[in-house]
Amino acid sequence: MKRIAVLASGSGSNLQALLDAAQRGELPARIVVVITDRFLCGADRRAAQRGIATVCLPVRRRRDHDERMAHDAQLAAVLAAFDPDLVVLAGWMLILGPAVLGRFPGRIVNVHPALLPDGDEALVASSHGPLPALRGHQTVREALALDMPLTGATVHYVTETVDAGPVILREEVPIFPGDDEAGLHERIKTVEHRLLPQAVAMALAAQ
Ligand code: GRF
Repeated sequence: MKRIAVLASGSGSNLQALLDAAQRGELPARIVVVITDRFLCGADRRAAQRGIATVCLPVRRRRDHDERMAHDAQLAAVLAAFDPDLVVLAGWMLILGPAVLGRFPGRIVNVHPALLPDGDEALVASSHGPLPALRGHQTVREALALDMPLTGATVHYVTETVDAGPVILREEVPIFPGDDEAGLHERIKTVEHRLLPQAVAMALAAQ
């Protein structure tokens, strides 16, 4: 049975989608550890309820380079101790550093709340023609601010360039008049919850 480590900073609804898919037998893998950077963020509670090991590795000063490098090394060591075949970022809010990226090359995937192209291009193809590829943490707000006709969800491999690795699965999500950020994000998450377990299964099968 393949082994998955999940990194999550938020409510953990994508983690829940993975847990549920595994329970239904749709994910031929075991989640062996959930690592968070925030104590009691939601993801760790969901993991604990299923009896899965949880580790909290907080960062006090996010902009302190030395602390971030030490945190990255600590994260790499904890991950390695659980010997995962795949590392899944399911709402992980920290950019991974060289220690983690170097230890798990081609074995880290991320779910992102927007449509992304296969590389670092500025535009992504869509059914409405090319649209801006929204990267970073404000993509739902930006899609609304740019008055885009649609946005989406993408699961991709993680590389050194943020939100620019090869795409495993992506799907469009329509934007409706009157949408607000919270409602649109929930609609995107509904798609993410379906896409992420499928993409994780595909990444594991490709190993
Ligand atoms: C998701 O929208 C994911 O794409 C983004 O962070 C959010 C996490 O949500 N990276 P949740 O904690 O899984 O509910």
